[in-house]
Amino acid sequence: MPDIPLTFTAEPVRGTPPGAVRTAELRYGSFDLSALLDQTVAVQRVANALSEEESESRRCLIGRRAAEPRVRAVGAFAGRRLVGFAYGAPLDPDWPWADEMEEGLRDIGGFDGLGRPFWLLELHVVPSCWRRGIGTSLVERLCRPVRQRWVGLTRRASSDRARVFYESLGFADVPGVVGGRGYVVMGARRPIGRTTRRA
Ligand SMILES: CC(C)(COP(=O)(O)OP(=O)(O)OC[C@H]1O[C@@H](n2cnc3c(N)ncnc32)[C@H](O)[C@@H]1OP(=O)(O)O)[C@@H](O)C(=O)NCCC(=O)NCCS
Repeated sequence: MPDIPLTFTAEPVRGTPPGAVRTAELRYGSFDLSALLDQTVAVQRVANALSEEESESRRCLIGRRAAEPRVRAVGAFAGRRLVGFAYGAPLDPDWPWADEMEEGLRDIGGFDGLGRPFWLLELHVVPSCWRRGIGTSLVERLCRPVRQRWVGLTRRASSDRARVFYESLGFADVPGVVGGRGYVVMGARRPIGRTTRRA
């Protein structure tokens, strides 16, 4: 599936997109988060079954990230409809939790000497498209061109789905480093890619 430049304007997703999206019809490409803010918020909402209120509070966060120059986003599109996205940036010392994170990671070791990581900030795929390799493709495409030698992220401690998913890409929990209450930090050296065979 080729990467294509995507320059179209926002087209809000209304509800969960139908499951009839054929994998062969999917296209991947970098996109401007702020141009597709409505769609990204909608995908995040259905992927995580968020209430409207929760979803609106996250809109502000994505909107703030969209304004950061080093943030890069990759989307999976069925036609003009966004069905999944990932975005990230090199760990930025200006992020409120960055100092603590770097210090924690330095103490734990494992990634010492590898420099500052690229941080995977968000990844969401609409449920009707799960288990079709979209999440994997998004992470691979987001991380492929980056210069940093390793990739970090936080995931919900309670989400086995996310743990199994990230482990399939070579990520491992970084014990002892807290990514916020109820969150676990994971890390992997680049290149990031599928480490287990599909059944
Ligand atoms: C986690 C998420 C991004 C995975 O997206 P996806 O497109 O379904 O992922 P893939 O199809 O690439 O899955 C790759 C592998 O991950 C594992 N995996 C993914 N979902 C899984 C699930 N529900 N149960 C068990 N393993 C799972 C499997 O090993 C899978 O490979 P397989 O299908 O060949 O067995 C998606 O479920 C999602 O958006 N969840 C809600 C938001 C979220 O949790 N985001 C990430 C944490 S911040």
